[in-house]
Amino acid sequence: MPDTNVIGLHESSASQLADRLNALLANYQIFYMNVRGYHWNVKGNQFFELHTKFEEYYTDLLLKVDEVAERILTLGHTPVHAYSDYVKMSDIAEDKDVHDGQSCVRGILQGYQSLIGLQREILSIASDADDEGTAAQVGDYIREQEKTVWMLNAYLG
Ligand SMILES: [Fe+2]
Repeated sequence: MPDTNVIGLHESSASQLADRLNALLANYQIFYMNVRGYHWNVKGNQFFELHTKFEEYYTDLLLKVDEVAERILTLGHTPVHAYSDYVKMSDIAEDKDVHDGQSCVRGILQGYQSLIGLQREILSIASDADDEGTAAQVGDYIREQEKTVWMLNAYLG
């Protein structure tokens, strides 16, 4: 079939989705590093609880970094793989020297909200392009992360 890639999607749709997935990848990478920073730098009487919880979050983020990058490859494109590019492409800003537990949790909550927004946009583009693989992947992320947002919000009271 002309104008289709190896998985049968239109080249133009695959290219548009790969661009948005690369933006998503950049956000995941910066957010991952932020959460790692919260894990290292948090102080106070909730240290043990938060230090452990933040490790759970960044471990999951790192798994998704790889899944998003490999989806881009599956679509026939190249995942961005330099931190200098991630910094330029990410909507989530680097967050440094945060020690207060509430501020760390707020940073994580806002990060997940950004990811959910971007993933909804990708879900819509993927659905229009009949790209069930990308739609299902980001759909799963949205469902999981919406639950996480509820929990983080509950934690903050
Ligand atoms: Fe650690």
